[in-house]
Order: sequence, then structure tokens, then C-alpha cells
Amino acid sequence: MSEPAKKIVLSGLRPTGRVHLGNYWGAVKNWVDLQDQYACRYFVADLHALTTDYADTSAIREATLEAVTDWLSVGLDPEKSVIFVQSQVPQTAELALIFGMITPLGWLERVPTYKEQLQELREKDLGTFGFLGYPVLMTADIALYRGHCVPVGKDQESHLEICREIVRRFNGMYGEVFPEPQALFTATPKVPGLDGRKMSKSYGNTIALSDSAEEIRVKVMSMVTDPKRARRADPGDPDTCNLFPFHLLYSPKEEVAQVDAECRSAARGCVDCKKHLIRNMNAALEPVRAKRAEITARPGYVREVLEEGGEKARAFAAETMKRVADAMKLL
Ligand code: TRP
Ligand code: SF4
Repeated sequence: MSEPAKKIVLSGLRPTGRVHLGNYWGAVKNWVDLQDQYACRYFVADLHALTTDYADTSAIREATLEAVTDWLSVGLDPEKSVIFVQSQVPQTAELALIFGMITPLGWLERVPTYKEQLQELREKDLGTFGFLGYPVLMTADIALYRGHCVPVGKDQESHLEICREIVRRFNGMYGEVFPEPQALFTATPKVPGLDGRKMSKSYGNTIALSDSAEEIRVKVMSMVTDPKRARRADPGDPDTCNLFPFHLLYSPKEEVAQVDAECRSAARGCVDCKKHLIRNMNAALEPVRAKRAEITARPGYVREVLEEGGEKARAFAAETMKRVADAMKLL
């Protein structure tokens, strides 16, 4: 297998079902934008989902297919990028096993998100081997495709750091097999949820990419605006309004400036402001809905894309595992 001329970008997302605007602006949009400049491999991290949700896997298959349908609807292109499902590449487990051999427990226990999540997800028993080994599995994902660049949010920075350490340790012990993956920090604008907290499925405050025009209307109308603006005549402050970040994302620049000025002088009311936003959001999301309808009208299409992507991913992976066996003097 020849190395592609472009640098390899590798990234994954857990299968959380329909993609919401937080997922889109935080990750998937960047994935789409990177497709021309890099050789991209994007996957559904279903094995990673098992590190916390192993006790109930009933939703995982549906969530995987829904997520990929949305990825394709916003422009991830199987002609440009390799799109696949983590568990469809058995070498992921093989390489994770090998990295597990060389990863000191102390490194894993020191990852800041490890202790945090143990606390946060108290209702789940996360005293498992798999949960502790999350970064080992992630290292296998990246190294298997010899990824150079990993687009991540700031929250994943510590994971990537340990991936780099594991790769370095491997290369130091057995020879240079893997590039050291670099974080590719991409712009991630603020996307609050309907209630002003971070948009998240677990808060039930999301707007989905695939929501209908009517759903968008109802959700935006329900949004919290500037809490200090009790009466229509009170001047507002876009900086403390949860609607305004959406104008930044969906309204043209001139209109954003107008919203800002008219809000501060009380020349515009929140209801009109919401209607204005609804028009702009629906104009932007209509093509996504149309593409989604096209995709869902072709039964089996998403599975075909994943089958094809899986085949390519397994071919890369097989080549990498040959190099690993060679370097480690395995037969
Ligand atoms: N950790 C990511 C998440 O929680 C998913 C993921 C798994 C990933 N393996 C990866 C991201 C490798 C980037 C590279 O969504
Ligand atoms: Fe927010 Fe618009 Fe109301 Fe200002 S006018 S507080 S920006 S909804």
C-alpha cells in the first residue's frame, strides 16, 4: 500500500444518533472542511461507546446509522473520505491489545478526564478494564491508519497527549512504525442549548440537524433570551442572550450587526428576532434536510457506504499490522 501524498487526518465520534448543532459546529463541519486538503478517515467510535455504555447496547446500531446519515447529509463525501465503523475493523482490537502491553497503568490513571468521569457517571460501574483503557483504544484508532493529524476539541487534548506517549514508547522500543499524531485544533464556535447550558443530548436541550422546519420554529420560539430584558422596551444585551450565538452562525454578517444594534437600543423585540433567526436557520438547513431525504429514500445506501469504507479501512489496517509484527519480531 502506498502512502497517500496528503497528510492523514483521523477522527471519530461516538454513535449518539441524530447529529445536533453542537456536534455539527464542534466537529462534523470541520471534518467536511478538511476533506480536500487532507486524506481523511472518519469513523463511528462504537467500541468507545461501550467503555461507558456496555450495560445497554440496544440503541447503538440505530444510533450509528442515524449519525452516518447526518454526516453524509452535511457533505461528508465517501468519494473523498474513508467513512467506516470502528468495530468493523478487527485490527483495532489487535493493536489495542499490543498497546495495552506497553502502557503503564499510571499513565492511564493520571488522565484528568478519567477521574472526572468516574465521579460524573456514578450511576454506571466504570471500574472496568475497558474504561481505564479508553486512551489505549484511541491510540490504536489513530495509529492503525498512521494518522498525522487529529482534529479534536480542547476537551480531548489530554487523550491525544497520552496517545502520543504510547506511540513514542512503541517507536522507541521496536522502531519507527508510527507518526506521532498532532492535534489539529479547529475553530469551535459557541453553541448553547435551548436552555442556555451547553447543547447536549443528556440535557435534552438540542436542535438536531434533521429537525423539520416546524420543529426548528417551535424550539427557537421556546429559547431563553436575555434574562434581564423583562419588557419589550428594555434594551437587551446580545452577549447574555442565548439566541445571539445562533445569529452568529446562521445570519449574514450585516444582519448580525443590525441585530446587535437594534437589540441594544430596544428597536427590536425578541419575538421578531426569533422569527428572523428561524428564517435564516431554515434556509441553511433546508438543503441538509433535502439531502437527508434523498439518502433515506435509498434503502441500504448508508450500509453500503460503511461496507465500502470498512473494506478500505481494513486494508490500511492489515498493512499497518504487518509492519507492527515485523517491528516486534512476531511471526
Ligand atoms: N474519543 C472520541 C469521543 O469520545 C472518539 C474517538 C475515539 C476518537 N477514537 C478517536 C477521536 C480517535 C479522535 C481520534 O467522541
Ligand atoms: Fe436576544 Fe434578539 Fe432578544 Fe436581543 S432582541 S435579547 S439578541 S432575542
